[in-house]
Amino acid sequence: MARVIAISNRKGGTGKTTVAVNLAAELAALGKRVLLVDLDSQGHCAAGLGVKVEKGAPTAHTIFLDPQATLTEAVRETTYPNLALAPADQLFEHGSGPRDEQRLAQALARDDIATAFDLVLLDTPPSLDHLLLNALTAAHWVLVPYVPHHLSFEGMRQLMRVLFKTMSGSNPRLKILGFLPTMAAEHIRQHRLVTGEVSRQFGAPRVLAGIRNDIRLAEAFGAGKPIRQYAPKCRGAEDFAALAATLAPILDVVST
Ligand SMILES: Nc1ncnc2c1ncn2[C@@H]1O[C@H](COP(=O)(O)OP(=O)(O)OP(=O)(O)O)[C@@H](O)[C@H]1O
Ligand SMILES: [Mg+2]
Repeated sequence: MARVIAISNRKGGTGKTTVAVNLAAELAALGKRVLLVDLDSQGHCAAGLGVKVEKGAPTAHTIFLDPQATLTEAVRETTYPNLALAPADQLFEHGSGPRDEQRLAQALARDDIATAFDLVLLDTPPSLDHLLLNALTAAHWVLVPYVPHHLSFEGMRQLMRVLFKTMSGSNPRLKILGFLPTMAAEHIRQHRLVTGEVSRQFGAPRVLAGIRNDIRLAEAFGAGKPIRQYAPKCRGAEDFAALAATLAPILDVVST
């Protein structure tokens, strides 16, 4: 069965989609068969991979509207080997559809997905809606990108409350893969202080080496390419390669 990683934070603009696209691309380059599922109707994952979604085509959101729909119908290859995408429906209204928290878990457990992929990455919206709850219910792991400034704590605390509720209810197997500082600048004192505080509150071993601030990551998104293709030598590319190398062995361990 594919291992499922939700990339989540209750705060907007913390680098979730940048992490989802680039980590998916790095893990695919390491030879993992990766499916990226875009649950955020902003639809940025398709843009970040240069994928055009035709009007009316099945999307990751179709399963929430049509009980007969499968996720496989929405899955498409990208130009990058081992990397497939289930894009978002930009017309999906968050909050619409039945409130079944198990819908995504069921869709991912089907044989056609479970045997086709090693890893499934879920990009999630920052809102607390049934899509985030579906993602946390379906996931083995949650990865939490955060911007190391003082306003970050509230979004993380809110996410932790939802996580603990999910762990003690619909998904006891859910584990925290790590907290990932993004847009980080080592030399800024505040960043160091906040990351120190995150370590104290949530456990130092859970805080991953961060993704540094790099304008090339934003540019790569505009160009519709993962950073490893757009600017393979920049520090953003280095950081994502290092992150994938750190996480790949952890993800290889089958969690039940
Ligand atoms: N390490 C980085 N260095 C520089 N810019 C970055 C970095 N990571 C993300 N960005 C930029 O910050 C902005 C927000 O990033 P992103 O869209 O990935 O966040 P998000 O958490 O997915 O946002 P939302 O909550 O709206 O879904 C984007 O313009 C992105 O290009
Ligand atoms: Mg996003």
